[in-house]
Amino acid sequence: MAEPRKSPRQRKSRYTADRGIAGAYDGETVTRRRLFEGGAQGVGGIAVAAFALPSLGFALGPLFEDQLPERYQDIGPEKDFNDETYVPKVISIVPNTGEAGKTTIYVRRTDPARDERNADQPYVAISTRCAHLGCPVRYVTASQRFICPCHGGVYGFQGEVTGGPPVRPLDRFYTKVERGRVLVGARFSLNSKLERFPHPRDPSSHLDGLWQYLYPGRPST
Ligand code: FES
Repeated sequence: MAEPRKSPRQRKSRYTADRGIAGAYDGETVTRRRLFEGGAQGVGGIAVAAFALPSLGFALGPLFEDQLPERYQDIGPEKDFNDETYVPKVISIVPNTGEAGKTTIYVRRTDPARDERNADQPYVAISTRCAHLGCPVRYVTASQRFICPCHGGVYGFQGEVTGGPPVRPLDRFYTKVERGRVLVGARFSLNSKLERFPHPRDPSSHLDGLWQYLYPGRPST
């Protein structure tokens, strides 16, 4: 004999206790349970967003910053330089700040055989800002090394890391030649293969593999 049809009300009770829902208590309805669950998830979402969104903005914001205007500085005639060793020059990296905005760079002529990665640049202009924490490095001609006095960072002839804690090669500056004069432009960073990243990174920012995405560039750095 066929079973009598149950009405929807008989099949589904509105109380969580009748439906065997975990944590049910007397008198609690399913609607009330859902309301509180939704409310708790909403508050949790807001709390997560309060932490995550500022972090995301901090990480990605620099990518949308305006580029610094292209500005080249004259550092002397071509005859001042050769491809065997570096010549120190002083440039201004923060305009209109006098001596405080100046820094020393080391410059040599590009040697296509040795500098194949950046052979499009007529000169190699290396920053003296250590890629560990930013101390000024010094070029030692006898050993053909850049040495950082702060924590023992050592860089090879091309600015690549050969010892100590620095996480990437020394930054460089774009170069060009006009009417026999050498001009130095904006800063760029490099990874350990000496591949160029036009948005320069802060000291301590890795640039190999996935790290390049975790440490976005800062054009004003
Ligand atoms: S700042 Fe250069 S090694 Fe630490």
